[in-house]
Amino acid sequence: MADSPGPGAIALAGFMGSGKSTVGREIARRLGRQFIDLDQAIERLAGQAISRIFKESGEDGFRDWEHAALREQAKCSPGTRDIVLALGGGTYAFERNRDLLRSFAVTIWLDSDPETLWERVRDASHRPLAQDREAFLRLHASRQESYAKADFRIDASGSPEEIATRIFRLRWFKGGLADA
Ligand code: S3P
Repeated sequence: MADSPGPGAIALAGFMGSGKSTVGREIARRLGRQFIDLDQAIERLAGQAISRIFKESGEDGFRDWEHAALREQAKCSPGTRDIVLALGGGTYAFERNRDLLRSFAVTIWLDSDPETLWERVRDASHRPLAQDREAFLRLHASRQESYAKADFRIDASGSPEEIATRIFRLRWFKGGLADA
């Protein structure tokens, strides 16, 4: 098992298709931690698929469910906060979510080239914000500034195993956030 990164959750941020869930599962497996996919937590809480939430309540309605699902993760008892959490692609773009995450998690941005991401998600009809290439690329560009506020940025090219290994090489795993 890998070195412990210390207490607190590990959250993965990044655009659609950047591998947050697969990489998150891999990190959780190596650390023996629980993995939580925020998109799934949102669907459980809302009792609806994400595409339906967008259809019935619009993006604003979805963002409220997203924030509520994140709040649920934040208020879990300390013992269960040592989770690995894959955020949704837009979660980290909102200040209220970033503030909340700062209180219980270290956040890592999985940074990928937008054309590669588009090729990965273009056929996934369940993603309401990945229906049109131009809009997708524009949204990607507009999110960069927010993602850059994460505690760490990782190059998310390569296999999930390679990306996970890159994360495990961050100095915070052994030495603390300050000198990473
Ligand atoms: C979104 C990304 C999706 C999901 C929702 C909105 C976004 O998550 O939360 O469709 O705003 O980028 P994934 O990045 O897991 O696809």
